[in-house]
Amino acid sequence: MPYPEIRPRRLRRNAAVRRLVSETRVDPAELVVPMFVKEGLAEPRQIASLPGVLQHSRDSLRKAAAEAVQAGVGGIMLFGVPASRDESGSGGLDPHGILNVAIRDVVAEVGDATVVMSDLCLDEFTSHGHCGLLTPDGAVDNDATLEAYARMAVAQADAGVHMVGPSGMMDGQVGVVRRALDAAGHTDVSVLAYAVKYASAFFGPFRDAVESALEGDRRAYQQDPANLRESLREVKLDVAEGADLVMVKPALPYLDVVSAVRAEVDVPVAAYQVSGEYAMVEAAAANGWIDRERVMLETLTSIRRAGAQIILTYWAVEAARLLRERY
Ligand code: PBG
Repeated sequence: MPYPEIRPRRLRRNAAVRRLVSETRVDPAELVVPMFVKEGLAEPRQIASLPGVLQHSRDSLRKAAAEAVQAGVGGIMLFGVPASRDESGSGGLDPHGILNVAIRDVVAEVGDATVVMSDLCLDEFTSHGHCGLLTPDGAVDNDATLEAYARMAVAQADAGVHMVGPSGMMDGQVGVVRRALDAAGHTDVSVLAYAVKYASAFFGPFRDAVESALEGDRRAYQQDPANLRESLREVKLDVAEGADLVMVKPALPYLDVVSAVRAEVDVPVAAYQVSGEYAMVEAAAANGWIDRERVMLETLTSIRRAGAQIILTYWAVEAARLLRERY
C-alpha cells in the first residue's frame, strides 16, 4: 500500500463519524407532497398504480393537509380531478372548479404553515387530455393556451394559492402567468416553473391518478429525454420570464440535468420524483425485493446531492417523519 496513512474508511467506522461528515441531508422543510382531490367523492379512494397515495375527497384532503403540516413538509402541490371535462378545460378556470375549491379548503386549513401550490395545466380538465387547447387539426395551440393559463393562474391566486406551478410546457407560459398575476394584484404569488419536463413514460401512474383522457403522447410539447442542452435553454428562458423557482421532472433518470440546471441558474431548483419512480420502488418492495425505506431515503438523498434543493415526492409525509426521528 503506497500511502498506508491515508485511510478514507476512518470516516466511515461508526454511525457518529458518518453523521459528522455526511455531505447531504434531506430536510423535511424541502419536501413537497403532491395531493389529488376528486370532485364529488364522498370517501378517499386508493390509486392502484400508486399504492399509499389517495384520490381525496374535499374532507379527507383537508385532514391530509393538516397531517402533512404536522409532519413538517415544506409544501403541498394540489391536483384536481373534475367530475366532467370539456374541449377547453373550462373546469380549470372556473372559481368553483374542483382545484380552485380545493385551494380554498387547504388554505383555510393550513394558512401560512406550509406553502400551498397548485398545478397550472389544462390536462386534468380537457376531454382530450392534452395540456392545452387544440387547433381544428388537433395540434396543441401554444398561444391560445397561454391565454387560458393566464386566467387559470388568476383564478388559483384568487382562491388563495401561494405558488403556481405551470406544467404544460407551452413557450412563454411563465411570462404570461407572471404578467397576469401582477395585473390582478397578485404580485406576491410566486411561480414554480416546470422549466424542464421530459416526455416521460414515468408519468404513467399519474395518469391513472387523474383519470387522464389522453390518447397519443405529449412529444410535441414535452422534451426529448435525449436532450440536456435544451434544458439549459428552457431554464434560462423561464428565469428571464420571471420564474421564482425552476423544476426538473422526472428526477432520478435525469440527475445529470438537475446538476447542470443547478450550475446554470441562481434561483432555487426543485426536482419532481414522479409517479413512475415511486411506483417502481413500491412494486419491488411489495415483492420483498428491496428494502423500501432505505431505497426511499437513498433516492431522496441522491436527488438532493445532484443539486435539487426542493423535492416533490409522494413519500414526502412519510419521509419527513422518518427523517425527524433520524436527525
Ligand atoms: C401535468 C402534470 C403531469 C404530472 C405533473 N403535472 C402529467 C403529464 O405531464 O403527463 C406528472 C406527475 C407524476 O407523474 O407524478 N398536469
